[in-house]
Amino acid sequence: MAANLYPADNMALLRIDIAHFRNLLSVKLSPIPAGFNIIYGENGSGKTSFLEAIYYLSLGRSFRSGVASRIINQNADKLSIFAHIDTESGQTVPVGIERYQHGEAKIRVSGQDVRSIAELADLTPVQLINTNCYNLLDTPGVRRKYLDWGAFYLSKDFMRVWRLFERALKQRNAALRNQLGPRELALWDEELIQHALALDQIRRQYVQSLLPLITQKASELLSIADLEIYYHSGWHDEANYRDILAQNIDKDRQAGFTQYGPHRADFKINVQGVPAKDILSRGQQKLFVCAMILAQGTLLTRYANKRSIYLVDDLPSELDVTSRSKLMSLLSRQEAQIFVTAVDHKMLDSFLIDKPTKMFHVEHGDMRTVMEHALE
Ligand SMILES: Nc1ncnc2c1ncn2[C@@H]1O[C@H](COP(=O)(O)OP(=O)(O)OP(=O)(O)O)[C@@H](O)[C@H]1O
Ligand SMILES: [Mg+2]
Repeated sequence: MAANLYPADNMALLRIDIAHFRNLLSVKLSPIPAGFNIIYGENGSGKTSFLEAIYYLSLGRSFRSGVASRIINQNADKLSIFAHIDTESGQTVPVGIERYQHGEAKIRVSGQDVRSIAELADLTPVQLINTNCYNLLDTPGVRRKYLDWGAFYLSKDFMRVWRLFERALKQRNAALRNQLGPRELALWDEELIQHALALDQIRRQYVQSLLPLITQKASELLSIADLEIYYHSGWHDEANYRDILAQNIDKDRQAGFTQYGPHRADFKINVQGVPAKDILSRGQQKLFVCAMILAQGTLLTRYANKRSIYLVDDLPSELDVTSRSKLMSLLSRQEAQIFVTAVDHKMLDSFLIDKPTKMFHVEHGDMRTVMEHALE
């Protein structure tokens, strides 16, 4: 594989070494850095576990289970994932994460122990497309996480502001529950307002750049008439947050928590005046969610000189041939590292002609490379 096929600013996993992650006892492989890594195998062979391991390396948590002991192989006392990452500055950085049954976790970046998973996440902007991604259309909390994923990479201030806001919110909620008087509450209000407005500003700016890209990607994947997307800050639009807190103080005291604020932020997606989830078909929803995710990846490259690493679990499911073809072609134009799973690679073969591809077969947790070809 000629190295000059790939842009210098590619962010990719060059080597992956997984041990005792679910049924993957020992997997060592070198994926293609820009193009399609196709992972195929029967039900229960370990395809999703492989994607889950990459996700775990980036975010320190699973997308399937919050309980670490479930993802560590049943017969092992720890899991480990190591990788070499090709960063946007052209350097190769060794990274790793280990997790023990008793709960301890170790994260290493460039040979140094690090305490925050944010350092790993910064190096590996992983985006996941799977059957749960429909939640993006269903659940405001999932949309908020999606927004914050992008804001984290695009705004240097995001993490600091987000932590300050979360702390202020917790403190104000505790003050509400403890029935503190108006003067003490006002102190927490000041802190909350300051960080709430800063967080809102970061999200608002991010959404402004994001929305046109979602519309553009969506139009490439499916035809939707009258698509409307708009940001909601988490309190009555256009209203002053200070006034909102003052007007709702009795309700907040009764409930024991702050009802309005950036912790309720959302963006609405309507098609012909109806929430997208109520009008689009399953396949259309999947394509729309893909458009949302690819839009973030494009923004990341445009403004942060980073490339997303895409994890697409069971790409063929719920998509007809035309939709699969459109999605594969859009993914390929991201010029990123893409991991795609499928039970049968034949479902994808016709879309891979002329595209840099490496193919891996998984059987009972063993993975081996079966094919590699590059764009001529
Ligand atoms: N902690 C664990 N230890 C050992 N094996 C596990 C553990 N957790 C899950 N498994 C097993 O790992 C196997 C791989 O599961 P995985 O979900 O990765 O399969 P898959 O290839 O994605 O299958 P499908 O095509 O059905 O989606 C399953 O047989 C599952 O029972
Ligand atoms: Mg699976």
